[in-house]
Amino acid sequence: MYVENVQLIDLSMHSDFYGSLIAIEELQDIPFNIKRVYYIFDVGKDIRRGFHSHRNLQQALICLHGSVKILVKTPYSKDNILLTSPQKALLIGPMVWREMYDFSPDAVLLVLASDHFIPDDYICDYTVYAQEAKAYFDTQKDISI
Ligand code: TYD
Repeated sequence: MYVENVQLIDLSMHSDFYGSLIAIEELQDIPFNIKRVYYIFDVGKDIRRGFHSHRNLQQALICLHGSVKILVKTPYSKDNILLTSPQKALLIGPMVWREMYDFSPDAVLLVLASDHFIPDDYICDYTVYAQEAKAYFDTQKDISI
C-alpha cells in the first residue's frame, strides 16, 4: 500500500560461508546524509512509542534483530509495516506520523537520521500534525500537477 513519503527498500546483503554483512552508505543505499544513529531495544510487550511526526527529518528504520510493527500515517493514507529482517529499511520522510509497537522481546530497531536531535522538528500533537500535514501534502500535489 502507498503512503506519502514512505518507502520500504531492500538492502544488499553479502552472505557467504562466514556469515552475512550489510553495508549502508549515505546517498547510495539510502537517499540522505546520515548525521545521527540511534537504536531502540528492551521495549516491553505492550509498549507503543513514537506518536510523532518530523517536519524535516528523514529516517531509515532497520530491525536488526527480532521484529517490530510500524504504523505510518498521513492525512491521506496509512499502513502497518512488520519489520522482521535486517535486509529491509523503512524510509520515512518529512510529515509522516509514526507509532512503533509489538516489539519482540529481542527486537533491536536501528534508526539512521538525516539530522541531529532537534526538538523543534517534532510534532507530537496529532491535531497540530494533521493540520500542518494537509497543508504540506496539498502544496506538494499542486507542484506535481
Ligand atoms: P523519543 O523521541 O520520545 O522516542 P520515541 O519517539 O521512540 O518514543 O525519545 C526518547 C528520549 O530519548 C527522549 O527523552 C529524547 C531522547 N532522545 C535523544 O536524546 N536523542 C535522540 O536522538 C532521540 C531520538 C531521543
